[in-house]
Amino acid sequence: MRHIDKAAALLIAGACTMGVAAAAGPDYGKMAHDMLSSDFRSKGPATVERVSQQDDVQKICSEQPAARARKVDAKIEASQLKTIVYPADGVWLGKWEEGEKIAQNGRGMQSSDAVGSVNGGNCYACHQLRKDEISFGNIGPSLYQYGKLRGQSAEIVRYTWGKIFNSQAFRACSSMPRFGHNGILTEAQIRDVMALLLDPASPVNQ
Ligand code: HEC
Repeated sequence: MRHIDKAAALLIAGACTMGVAAAAGPDYGKMAHDMLSSDFRSKGPATVERVSQQDDVQKICSEQPAARARKVDAKIEASQLKTIVYPADGVWLGKWEEGEKIAQNGRGMQSSDAVGSVNGGNCYACHQLRKDEISFGNIGPSLYQYGKLRGQSAEIVRYTWGKIFNSQAFRACSSMPRFGHNGILTEAQIRDVMALLLDPASPVNQ
């Protein structure tokens, strides 16, 4: 994604130095939105609203990255930080065995799923987690030995929960889903994924 940002920035910079005024062309954003709203149909948990309606943060994140100042990112992070719901009972860690299943599970919120069915977290799609799993994506950093390297201090536990609950609280416009904020994972599921990352007995920390 980064190289696309760079290309866009270069294009804009190029246009400016050449003194080319941006012609008012077709509004592709609006056209795409209108097409999604009129041609797509909701089916099960895959609702048209999920792709046709953006919340305030998504709207800002869809703008040209070059036009988004760090000031704006800080604002997004502050607003998203406020949305995080921490476990009221003080229980942060569940079972890593369940967390592993959630991390492996890429199902959920698709048109073939029943409304209200349990979603997966699909963490392996973007992260390395345990050493003996060789099928993983690398959009996100490797989380192998996450707990072993960082320990279980109150700050780390709280940060990790917050990152999973709403990734944008710590990085505006992150490509990591906002699992808690958007109701993708339940509190109990987040606990299990937390254990996968932080429990010393978890294969992530071997
Ligand atoms: C679509 C890709 C994607 C998915 C799916 C994803 N992540 Fe991430 N994750 C990222 C990216 C990218 C980062 C780097 C920081 C950022 O951009 O937010 C990240 C960062 C993190 C971090 C912070 C790492 C650090 O060094 O502080 C944690 C913890 C994390 N992810 C956990 C998870 C867990 C647990 C899941 C599954 C429930 C998950 N991620 C699913 C993309 C993803």
